[in-house]
Amino acid sequence: MRIVQIEKVKPGDVLGKSLYNKNYELVVSAGFKLTEEMISTLKRREYNYIYIMDELTKGIMPEEVVSETIRIMTNRQLAETFESIKNNLAFETFAPEEIKKRMDEGCCEMPSIRMASVRKAATHLVDEILQNGREIFASLPIDDSAAVDLQHSLDVTILSVLIGQKFSFTEEEMKQLGTAALLHDVGKLVFPTLRDKPPAELSREERMILREHPVYSMMIIRGGDPNSFIEPVVVQQHHEYHDGSGYPNRLKGEPFPPTKAFKRGRQTMHRYAEILSAANMYDNLLRGNNDGVKRSPAEAITWMVTKMKEKFNPHILRIMPQLIQCYPTGALVRIDKTTSGSYEGWYGIVARSNDEDQSKPLILLTHDPNYKESTPTQIDLSSEKEVVLDLVL
Ligand SMILES: [Fe+2]
Repeated sequence: MRIVQIEKVKPGDVLGKSLYNKNYELVVSAGFKLTEEMISTLKRREYNYIYIMDELTKGIMPEEVVSETIRIMTNRQLAETFESIKNNLAFETFAPEEIKKRMDEGCCEMPSIRMASVRKAATHLVDEILQNGREIFASLPIDDSAAVDLQHSLDVTILSVLIGQKFSFTEEEMKQLGTAALLHDVGKLVFPTLRDKPPAELSREERMILREHPVYSMMIIRGGDPNSFIEPVVVQQHHEYHDGSGYPNRLKGEPFPPTKAFKRGRQTMHRYAEILSAANMYDNLLRGNNDGVKRSPAEAITWMVTKMKEKFNPHILRIMPQLIQCYPTGALVRIDKTTSGSYEGWYGIVARSNDEDQSKPLILLTHDPNYKESTPTQIDLSSEKEVVLDLVL
């Protein structure tokens, strides 16, 4: 199957992957032959991209380490947790400054979230990632149809766990990291009027208030389980940066890999937080959560390794491009540059990622440089020294 922009979908195209709404209820099942009317409905519901099954790409399957079933299960679990927090914090009528004052004064009881359920969700995710065995993060195009905060939490969690796996984390370590990642932004739920505002519309004061959310995430998790120690510490540090320029405590990172083998200083970031901070930034760059600019996976990772190099643990930054599939399987790409010069300007569908080097996937060439259809040919770019692709979609 292949990923197609909703604008390019035609009546009669067959849906490759089922579609769900913001509440994770099924909208259309895979295999459905799309009608004009259905396509208009999907556009109205803000689906940007869908998977299409066709003869040409029938052998191409999306490569994701977490199945749709586990994704839906985790999302439902998370939605329930988020909902219970929103309902317990009766802040809907207060101004953000008033909420902050009340939170800081400790005048309100923390909602009691069921930490055991969140841990269970993290366990399912980790089990599946371990079972799958592949070290690949399929970075799919951002879809406005999804419940943004849930998708963000889930994607940050999967990426964090995969980074942990790369550093040979034990199963238990991955589950702790996963639990913290699932809940890292729950502190934002404290501010009902601010959490959904586009970043460009936030005033300076509102931005400063929102910067308190890691502390409130920590308080909410502690409220859910007073005996939990690691997860609250990690969520509180998810906006700290390696160079000490983050918030709320301007903690620094350590120069060595985030593993148990290295002794860390007391006043430095927790090793899980170093991972979470990097995974969180990557997903925020994709979604435009910081500056309103949505970046492609390749742009986001390049941005991190060039413009934000000092902000992240160098070992984590080195590992991320090996994990992130910048050109998702099924996506249309243009080959901009190859060392040998062959296929430059040609278009094709990503047929399979290359675990050795994510920048050189297997490609099914479909169109010549003038975008004229050609006989489909599969090409392997792994022998090229350097390859530059452009995600066309
Ligand atoms: Fe955050």
